[in-house]
Amino acid sequence: MEPKIAKKGPYVMDMKPGKYYWCSCGHTETQPFCDGSHERLGAGMTPVETEIKNPKTVAWCGCRRTAKPPFCDGAHNKL
Ligand code: FES
Repeated sequence: MEPKIAKKGPYVMDMKPGKYYWCSCGHTETQPFCDGSHERLGAGMTPVETEIKNPKTVAWCGCRRTAKPPFCDGAHNKL
């Protein structure tokens, strides 16, 4: 199963320090973070754990085609 293209662009968000679980399957309803949908769908994909150490603005990949998950690398521009 290919990951779903949830958005052809990043989710740009101001993040607080903490651990985050970016959805790699694209099916979550709490974009861009995992809501467990991958288990229900049997998508064969699991979330990517990321620790944000300092407050910062993050561009989370929305298209799920990035080569640098969980972050946007501009791959959406080629879709
Ligand atoms: S819902 Fe997509 S990886 Fe969990």
